[in-house]
Amino acid sequence: MSHELNGNRPGAAAAKPRIRAHVTGWGRYVPSQVLSNADLERMVDTNDEWIVSRTGIRERRVAAAHETTASMAAVAGLRAIRTAGIEPDEIDLILLATLTPDYWMPSTAALVKEAIGNTRAAAMDVAAACSGFVYGFATAQAWIESGLAKHVLVIGAELLTRFLDYSDRSTCILFGDGAGAAVLSASTEPGGSLGIELTTEPQGAYMIWLPAGGAKSPPSAETIARGEHFIRMEGKETYRFATRTLASTALESVRKSGLEPDDIRLFIPHQANIRIIEAVAKGLNLPMERMYTNVDKYGNTSAASVPIAMAEAVNEGRIDVGDRITIVAFGAGFTSGAVTIEWTADPARGRAADAAVQADDVHVRLPVDWDSVDPIPPALAELMARPGTVNPPLDDVVPGEPEPASRPLAR
Ligand code: UT7
Repeated sequence: MSHELNGNRPGAAAAKPRIRAHVTGWGRYVPSQVLSNADLERMVDTNDEWIVSRTGIRERRVAAAHETTASMAAVAGLRAIRTAGIEPDEIDLILLATLTPDYWMPSTAALVKEAIGNTRAAAMDVAAACSGFVYGFATAQAWIESGLAKHVLVIGAELLTRFLDYSDRSTCILFGDGAGAAVLSASTEPGGSLGIELTTEPQGAYMIWLPAGGAKSPPSAETIARGEHFIRMEGKETYRFATRTLASTALESVRKSGLEPDDIRLFIPHQANIRIIEAVAKGLNLPMERMYTNVDKYGNTSAASVPIAMAEAVNEGRIDVGDRITIVAFGAGFTSGAVTIEWTADPARGRAADAAVQADDVHVRLPVDWDSVDPIPPALAELMARPGTVNPPLDDVVPGEPEPASRPLAR
């Protein structure tokens, strides 16, 4: 990629119009397979009433055997690029927020770069758990405002259902799979991304974590026997952190933008739990109509939840040109982040993207000579084997010849 710096010499700044980061594209992808509370009742000791009253979740999506974080991210990313009306090769930087990468290395962003047919971009993953998309968004804004990039693709994508302990009813009911994306583009027009607030509180580091598989505790038969390759969470502590932090982080971002909460048409909070979102509304002294929610449909999709919600909110007509919105998230770390945005893109642009980019159009290249992939936990495999569920043959994950890396985007 080529970098042209923005002329920060004394005297030069005043002469140049300020470059701002505008959201020009948005898109999302969710797998077609639905895991309902009734399905979970058959897997663990839980019930629909408990899940709905404590979390607001009614169902979540589960990736099919042939899908990966990269494949879902690529579909959402291409949809966002399509909405922005640019070619994939115009993207200068790809930031992919995830806590469920396809591999430890390479980055999932690198796989996505190839899958979307981009030859120019720098690509890297962002590790900030459920706050990852907002952290990536803020990073994209900084790259654009400094002149380092013209178009940045920011993706949040997660395949959490492969990292859940289906014998732990306090976590397995919460999470789902999916991906959302945004394109941020440089412009000297007013509006776009405004105030950023990011926080990290490491005293919460072990409140949501995945104990084994890293350098501290490399994977072994013992770590697997102890189930340390699954997500663990102290629900109550996490809940307390979320209700204490989300509203204050959002408020800080709004105030840094020179605004007050009442100036914000719609808050797009991380979709972890409806009670947490209600606490944000209360903390900001706003009615729930000013909070976007879809946690009932998708559960907690971690880094994917804010961009999926943002794409759906725009496509549903909840955001219009000139509206101010605030995206806000919290997650493991503990992290939290918020960005306030003055919306400038025509909402109608997003509605055609789903039809224009189908999941089957996108191919993530698989490793050659690698045939030991069996990604589905037994409890999920049982569910997916039921008649009527999407269950592509596992042969799909055994590599053949690499797919071509680039293809023109249909308009
Ligand atoms: O992206 C960030 C990710 N994390 C979060 O956002 C999670 C934040 N925390 C939460 O949302 C809530 O703490 C939970 C939804 C996880 C749990 O709700 P809670 O109101 O804090 O429940 P609890 O953990 O205090 O459990 C209350 C009871 C317990 O039974 P006893 O000890 O009172 O007999 C649990 O064993 O509910 C029981 N329980 C369940 N019962 C039915 C826990 N999970 C379930 C379940 N079904 N799935």
